[in-house]
This record gives sequence, C-alpha cells and structure tokens, in this order.
Amino acid sequence: MATEKPWGGRFTESTDAFVEAFTASVGFDRRLWRHDIQGSVAHATMLAHVGVLTAAERDAIVKGLKAIEAEIERDGFAWREALEDVHMNIEARLTERIGDAGKKLHTGRSRNDQVATDIRLYLRDGIDAVRAELKRLQTALVDIAEREAETLMPGFTHLQIAQPVTFGHHMLAWFEMLMRDGARLRDCRGRANVMPLGAAALAGTSYPIDRAYTAKLLGFDAVAENSLDAVSDRDFAIEFTGACALIMVHLSRMAEELVLWSSSQFGFVELPDAYCTGSSIMPQKKNPDVPELVRGKSGRVIGDLMALLTLMKSQPLAYNKDNQEDKEPVFDALDTVLASLRAFAGMLPAMQVRRETMARAARQGFSTATDLADYLVRKGVPFRDAHEVVGKAVRAALDSGRELSQLSLDELRRFSPLVAEDVYAVLSIEGSAAARRHVGGTAPAQVREAVKRARVRLQEV
Ligand code: ARG
Repeated sequence: MATEKPWGGRFTESTDAFVEAFTASVGFDRRLWRHDIQGSVAHATMLAHVGVLTAAERDAIVKGLKAIEAEIERDGFAWREALEDVHMNIEARLTERIGDAGKKLHTGRSRNDQVATDIRLYLRDGIDAVRAELKRLQTALVDIAEREAETLMPGFTHLQIAQPVTFGHHMLAWFEMLMRDGARLRDCRGRANVMPLGAAALAGTSYPIDRAYTAKLLGFDAVAENSLDAVSDRDFAIEFTGACALIMVHLSRMAEELVLWSSSQFGFVELPDAYCTGSSIMPQKKNPDVPELVRGKSGRVIGDLMALLTLMKSQPLAYNKDNQEDKEPVFDALDTVLASLRAFAGMLPAMQVRRETMARAARQGFSTATDLADYLVRKGVPFRDAHEVVGKAVRAALDSGRELSQLSLDELRRFSPLVAEDVYAVLSIEGSAAARRHVGGTAPAQVREAVKRARVRLQEV
C-alpha cells in the first residue's frame, strides 16, 4: 500500500500533497462530528440487531465512539487532513482505540449515505434552532405591537406618506413575514427528516440491513425510497438555505426601515446605544451598525443559496464529489441567520419609540385625504368625483402651506357644500386609523385583537 488512506488498496502512488489539501473537507465538515457519531452508533446497533455484528463488537464500537465524542468535546482530538473528512477521521480513530471491531463499523455503509445522513441530522437540529430564534424575535415584536397599539405613524407607499397607521400594526406586519418563514422551515424539516442510510454507495447493500430499525433509532420519519436519489440529491439543503435567504430578505427590509427611522430626518426611533457604534472622526455620530450589517449579510445567504443551486444543477446520478461543497454554504446560512435573528431579538425590545415625532409626521403629507374622499362618498358623492374634489382641496392647501385639517370649514365647503363640522374628526389621524377596524386593519382595537391571535399562533409553532 503506497498510502495510509482507508481506500488506499488499489493505489500504487500516494496522493499529491496539494491534491490532498484540495480534496480534504475535514477543515469544515468536522462540524458534523456529533451527528456522524450519532449515525454510526445507530448503524452499529442495527448491524448487531440483524446479526452482522456480535453484541460484543457492537458494545466495543459504541463505547469507542462515546470515548471519541468525549475527546472531541474537550478538544483533545487530533484531526488529520490526510484522512480527508470527518467520517474517516472518526473511523480511523475508532480502530486505533478498539482494534479490529472498529474496522467492521463501515459494513453495509458508504460515506455517500453516511454524509447524506449526517447533514440531514445536522440540519434537523439547525432548523429547530432557527425556529426557536424566530419565535423569540416574534415574541419581541408582539410585545412592542401591544405596547404601541395606539401609536400613530405615517404609513408609506413609494416611501411617500400615504395614510396613518399604527406602529403596532407595522410591527405585526413584520411578525407575519416571520410567521411564514417559520412555516417554511417546518415544511422543509419534514422533507429533510428522511433517512438515506442503507443506500450505501448508490445501489444499496447485500447485507440483511433493517433500515426502519435504524431510522427509528435516529428519529427519522421515514427511510429514503430510492438509493440513487438518497445519496445524491441535496434539495433539502437547498430548501433550507432558500428559507434562510427569505428570512434574511425579510430582516433586510426591517433593517432598512430601522436605518431610516433612526436617522435624524425621521427620528421615529432611537436604537439602544449597546447596538450602535460611533465614528472615529465625527464625534456626533451614532451609527445603526447592527441593522446595516444584517442588511448586508442578506447578500451572503442569497449567495449561499445560489452556490447550492448551481452545485446541484446538472449533476448526474448518483453521488458526485461536487456534493462535498454543500457544507460551507449551509453552515454559513445557518450561522448568519441565527446571529441576525439574535441581534434583532436583543435590539428591538430596547428600542425607544418617539411617539410625538411619528404622530407629527403622520399629520403631514395629507395623509387623511382618502378619509375626506370616503367622507364625501358616505354623503352620496361617487368615489371618482370625491377623489377629484379632494385633489383640488389638497392643491389649495399646498398653495397656502397648510394641511387639510388647517383649512376652515368655509374654505372646505368651497370644494363641496356637503362638508360639515364633523369633517375634522375624519381628518384627524386618530379618526383615520380608528376607522379601519376590520380584521387586518390598522385600528388600535384591531391591533389589540391581532396581538391576542398572534400570541395563540405563536404557542402553536
Ligand atoms: N467528504 C465527502 C462529502 O462530503 C464524503 C463522501 C465521500 N464519498 C466519496 N465517494 N468520495 O461528500
């Protein structure tokens, strides 16, 4: 044997040093160690269950793997690049520790079904962690929504002042985005939780394995139906990263609003000092670094998704080494999403809301012009005509540098004789918001109801 590799039998020359480094994945796939050991323990237990291993061999393997787990936990494991990946590192160490029984662990298995199993086990935990963080952030949003159910702010379309909304309502819009993100992750978990083990290299194995038994030990919902598909497709990882990319897109939208709102031009919110930084040259600066970074990091995760899609595209069946490249994007997406969610969940509860500034802004920009049109409609004017009349009133107010509510009754009646004293309640931002009191509307009473429903829905995720 010209090489110490577990697969070295048919080789006469040793691997080129550069190629060894180029093909190795242990530098990043060692993160899978806990799940690799978990899978191996289950595999060995199954092999003994069907009589391929003796009980003594199984016990030695399980004991050896547990000892290796402890070694890795206390950072006492010597990872070797020459052993390529996490799987061969652990297997080689097992044989070093327990001798010949260790060499039997790989019976009826291949690294192809092993690695596919490891990533699924790993992602299952990753998905649960992201869902927990999502829930934490959503709880923070519901708390703010409840506290700010009556707080009025301008609602925007085209980033132009459109109609008054409540800040609580705005927070619940964010909540809904994250709710769908959580549901996507739950769906994706269902498809990821299917066991490839038993597919071996690609065609299955000639040993009398009991796949259902292993699946039960590992908590998989089902075994993969087709061995070729089981070792090759990474669609579950793509789905996960896709769900992560959408979370980041949502967080980037929130981030953008926070950056705008915390600027002196808006002044709607004050972010906590603990989540901002200063400038080394401009003493007055307080920069919203955390939302900016989250906004920027969305690019990484979208990139991770593109990397995985491109990696999978056009791959012939079954396993190809290309798939070794699936890990770094998945890990990066997971780390980035977890950190971003954590940052937001920590920052938002400490954010101060400048209610007066928001209300002042909401009173500007003719935000209740639609309410005036609706008022005329209620008095019998067709909506298109009402729209025209109010447009003229807006023009007149603009020319005299006032808001609609600052026009006198006489002035308003010049545009329509149907206008009466009660118009001022309609032109107020409070009246405007309170009038939108259907399900999904911005009225404070509706926001409070939505908060109640949101809390119940959160219990169920
Ligand atoms: N490190 C490999 C990967 O991540 C494990 C599977 C290797 N299989 C093989 N036939 N070389 O995909």
